[in-house]
Amino acid sequence: EKNGYDHFMLKEIHEQPEAIKDTYRGRLRINEGIIKMAGIEDNLEKILKANRIIIVACGTSWHAGLVAEYIFEDLVRIPVEVEYASEFRYRNPVITSNDVVIAISQSGETADTLAAIKLAKQNGAFVFGVCNVVGSSIARESHAGAYTHAGPEIGVASTKAFTTQITVLTLIALKLAQSKGMLSKTEFQQYLAEMEAIPAKVEKCLKIDDHVKYISSIYKDSPNFLYLGRGYNFPVALEGALKLKEISYIHAEGYPAAEMKHGPIALIDEQMPVVVIATKKGHYEKVVSNIQEIKSRKGKIIGIVTEGDEEVRSMADFVIEVPETLEGLTPLLTTIPLQLLSYHIAVMRGCNVDQPRNLAKSVTVE
Ligand code: F6R
Repeated sequence: EKNGYDHFMLKEIHEQPEAIKDTYRGRLRINEGIIKMAGIEDNLEKILKANRIIIVACGTSWHAGLVAEYIFEDLVRIPVEVEYASEFRYRNPVITSNDVVIAISQSGETADTLAAIKLAKQNGAFVFGVCNVVGSSIARESHAGAYTHAGPEIGVASTKAFTTQITVLTLIALKLAQSKGMLSKTEFQQYLAEMEAIPAKVEKCLKIDDHVKYISSIYKDSPNFLYLGRGYNFPVALEGALKLKEISYIHAEGYPAAEMKHGPIALIDEQMPVVVIATKKGHYEKVVSNIQEIKSRKGKIIGIVTEGDEEVRSMADFVIEVPETLEGLTPLLTTIPLQLLSYHIAVMRGCNVDQPRNLAKSVTVE
């Protein structure tokens, strides 16, 4: 059932081009110039009138929520808050009937996320679920929703669930932006076309696996890693660090690149690998100067860059290229090498990647 792959995690990483297609199939309708999503259409007015959108989730799903915050605020211009479900439910949050709560959960069974939406409902909010498991508790508790259609995810570390969550949330943002008249027809069409092109670009990211494996072999014994990104790729840095922690047991932290000088820069020495997401468009020049700061402290730099990049290549110890796309869609590509990096490092360290110690696939107790 692993389909020739050594682990479910690797299989699921490689399934992402198909999983993303399954997620947008029937919804992304380029020829008609529309996005079709019943759960949004049926509640369009309520969602567009919302004072704000509150996203609740845990773990990797919370990282997908952070990516969504950037894209929603950018495209739809509705304020978004992203909350850890466990914090939200216990801190007496201000929720009103003018709020839309989006719950993101692969399993649809995460106890804290489920409790958070029950609380939101009690306070009159409209709850929209983004789940992978059909008929799961969170899907059933939500007023409306959209499934990710990623197929079963067996590996405990979430991979295809994350990229398909981002895909669904991007489609929602685009649909709302179009309904609100926030995008020109050309801009909207360009987004649709770029989204349709993502699976082939993910495929390209998967093809450089040997290169990522080589880099993994160089840094597999490092006790610490730092991951940095800005804008849309700040949540990707968090997700890259989480993936490494959970399956390789290496201590890793993700930070917004500019926050480095407010503390974590003290950690940097010649032993410290720093993974920096430095794709073109997303504040590129700012990230380049962050890379210079790392370099002058002799940190080791692994840059995730846009194909053809020269500037970061000239400074970094290694670069991993991803194809060019719209800034808002880069997380779907930059995530891939970080998944592979954590996977290879974990395998080289002899870890049980599909079932890391102390972790459960779905956390049904708080
Ligand atoms: C990380 C991971 C966890 C889950 C989290 C939420 O790889 O798998 O952090 O993302 O437990 O789970 P769901 O999405 O099922 O609510």
